[in-house]
Amino acid sequence: MQVKSAEFIKSAVKPDQYPPAGPPEIAFAGRSNVGKSSLINTLLNRKHLVKTSSTPGRTQLLNFFDINGDTVFVDLPGYGYAKVPARIKKNWGPMVEKFLATRKTLKGVVLILDIRRTPQDEERDFIDWLLDNRIPVILVLTKADKLAKNKRIKQMQAIARELDITTDDLICFSAKTRMGLSDVWAAIDHLLAEGAMPSDPGP
Ligand code: GTP
Ligand code: MG
Repeated sequence: MQVKSAEFIKSAVKPDQYPPAGPPEIAFAGRSNVGKSSLINTLLNRKHLVKTSSTPGRTQLLNFFDINGDTVFVDLPGYGYAKVPARIKKNWGPMVEKFLATRKTLKGVVLILDIRRTPQDEERDFIDWLLDNRIPVILVLTKADKLAKNKRIKQMQAIARELDITTDDLICFSAKTRMGLSDVWAAIDHLLAEGAMPSDPGP
């Protein structure tokens, strides 16, 4: 996709605060501080459209962004960070689950994992939950710049093994070097094209 415009629409917690369902949507999920907002900014080629922070758990709302007037990106709050207050943790599950399970225009979720970290039950449970709900998932391993090439390949293999998939199902990415950017876009474009009605049924 060629990004011509990208604008913040609004933040939401509850369904009545979501923007009207219309364009196809892609949501971005992952642990706090993993690099969700940085990935979105890199995809959109905008340094500061989405706030990033070295303090984990800064994004605590569903944030909607309009892309080109025909696509919506949703930055989901990060899960699983110990320092997030219990009150917020308690709200995270229902808020994110409600959105993902009920949003008819959702085309898929980009699940972002830190390449240096072996996925835990938390991630496996989340992936299983997404698949049970028939929500397509794109798996992105971010902060790939932090590892040398041989270490990166080893980590990819270890993560694939842990998730019972192949390394072909994983995209290595870095917001710093923009490695993997075109692969992430290709995967998103593929999801957006899926199920799109052809305007002309042909002869
Ligand atoms: P929350 O909204 O708090 O859940 O965090 P987030 O997942 O949106 O992470 P964010 O994009 O704010 O990034 C967290 C920190 O990681 C920031 O200090 C970023 O600069 C850094 N970071 C993100 N992506 C990368 C990357 O690919 N490489 C490196 N080296 N640092 C990154
Ligand atoms: Mg964020």
